[in-house]
Amino acid sequence: MLDLLDSLGALGAAALREAFGADGVPAHVVFEPSQRADLQCAAAMQLARALKRPPRDLAAVLVTAASTHPAVARADIAGAGFVNVTLHDGWIAAHLDDALAHRAVGAGQTRVLDYSSPNVAKPMHIGHIRSTILGEALKRVLRKVGYAVVSDNHLGDWGTQFGKLIVAWRRYLDEAAFAREPVQELLRIYVKFSDEEKAQRAALGAAPAKDGDDDDAPAAVAPLLAEARAELVKLQAGDAENVALWKRFVDVSMREFDRMYARLGVSFDVTLGESFYNDMLAPTVDALLADGTAEPSQGAVVVTFTKERDGEALPPFLLRKADGGFLYGSTDVAAMRYRMTTWSPSRILIVTDERQQLHFRQLFATARRMGVGARLEHVWFGLMRLPEGTFSTRDGNVIALEDLLDEAERRARAVAAELNPALAPDELDAIARVVGLGAVKYNDLSKDRQTLVTFTWDKALSLQGNTAPYLQYAYARIRSLVRKVAETGATMGPVGALEPTERALVLTLLRYPLAVQEVAQTARPHVLCDYLYALATAFSSFYGELPVKDAAPELRAARLTLCDRVATVLREGLDLLGIEVPERM
Ligand code: ARG
Repeated sequence: MLDLLDSLGALGAAALREAFGADGVPAHVVFEPSQRADLQCAAAMQLARALKRPPRDLAAVLVTAASTHPAVARADIAGAGFVNVTLHDGWIAAHLDDALAHRAVGAGQTRVLDYSSPNVAKPMHIGHIRSTILGEALKRVLRKVGYAVVSDNHLGDWGTQFGKLIVAWRRYLDEAAFAREPVQELLRIYVKFSDEEKAQRAALGAAPAKDGDDDDAPAAVAPLLAEARAELVKLQAGDAENVALWKRFVDVSMREFDRMYARLGVSFDVTLGESFYNDMLAPTVDALLADGTAEPSQGAVVVTFTKERDGEALPPFLLRKADGGFLYGSTDVAAMRYRMTTWSPSRILIVTDERQQLHFRQLFATARRMGVGARLEHVWFGLMRLPEGTFSTRDGNVIALEDLLDEAERRARAVAAELNPALAPDELDAIARVVGLGAVKYNDLSKDRQTLVTFTWDKALSLQGNTAPYLQYAYARIRSLVRKVAETGATMGPVGALEPTERALVLTLLRYPLAVQEVAQTARPHVLCDYLYALATAFSSFYGELPVKDAAPELRAARLTLCDRVATVLREGLDLLGIEVPERM
């Protein structure tokens, strides 16, 4: 199908050039699968102005050109100048294998993919799940189309919160609680620190501090905060006791993250947290000062941006504070240099929520000034919200990821038991795991990532409509059908003449590599979800209308092939999304 679209595109463009001259005609025009015809081309409307001709004149030329292709049964003009193409049934049937033929568009190219990247000493909550799940799906899809992908977990394991945690540890730690649930206890003492500090500030008559706000006037600094800053300076200077504590915070957090990653089936090639770049910060900022990318400003170091030079005027990007301290952004600049020299990627993608858009615009503008040639992309997503507001670690309306997954499995188990009461308990457990996890992941992946998601249990775990359980159920049903037919001794055979619903099903199968390629290009996995849902729907029309098991031998063999192919695409497509399938359900 990809090859056919290419050759039709080239044919059409050549014909337009011949008829109207080369000016304004691209090398390819776009033919694509459509709801209204097997393929459609809208180029006549797009090029009419440039060629100074009515769209239907252009469309007539495209129709003649397309008609010469052996795959094309008919081409017609529709509406204002659309070209609708009908393919020969024989071509469609003969190209069934194209359904699994991905094109290696990324061959020879490396992409760095920065995702998940949670912060140490805080439990991973439902807001983190999106970066982890989106990033994992993108990694799999990019690899499928030939990219070499370096997946990098840019752990938040360094920064001002560690001074606070060290103070909190010495003052508030409950050892038994830490032994039981270490990260929970770290969160508790961190929150306790913040509350105490807030109270001290209020007593000083100062405004409450914003998170990460460390630049207040000395008079307004609460004693607790002053203490935390002193501990941070000691930590950064390599004080043995503080470094040991910091390591402990990182270790217990990492153990918890790793447990979640194992449960989610997520893995990274490297985990280079912020601390990894610590020694590179000073030389990096010095280098940027030396080559003029950055400049001194009231004792601090910043990068400034103008519309003329950088394409857009942005607020200054702070790389070093007047007190010599470095920031989140300094680390990102060091990471940028490190990634470019280590892996020479053609693109770097960073997956975080929407709140960091300005930060990455500043970082990317800085990188361009540094001469970074790779394409840089902030793959941002809308924050997950509860009906009553945003999730926040501080406010207690957190649903820990682990609880979410447990609940998802519990509910999936109940549904599976109702669907199939004959299942043995261990089989039910296995299905519950795959389906519960699938539901949670698909809930994140199936909506355009930039839309706002309100989380509700019922939507996340629904077994109807465009959901993972629906697709998993479709897969399991096809597999059991294939098993049953195989028991009668029937085997698969070539696909020949096509009934309308079969024809539609094969055409849908052929669109699979296009959907995968689009996800690789746009970093929008919901395109693949929509595709898989369309495939399951096309299968269900086919299966609702045509017999398989009881068809005449030749038809049965051909339909068995179709069923098998649909199952394979469903399984592979879900796997690209990081979702497993059950063999029965
Ligand atoms: N740890 C950060 C956070 O939770 C995300 C890091 C994203 N990656 C990066 N290179 N800045 O907000």
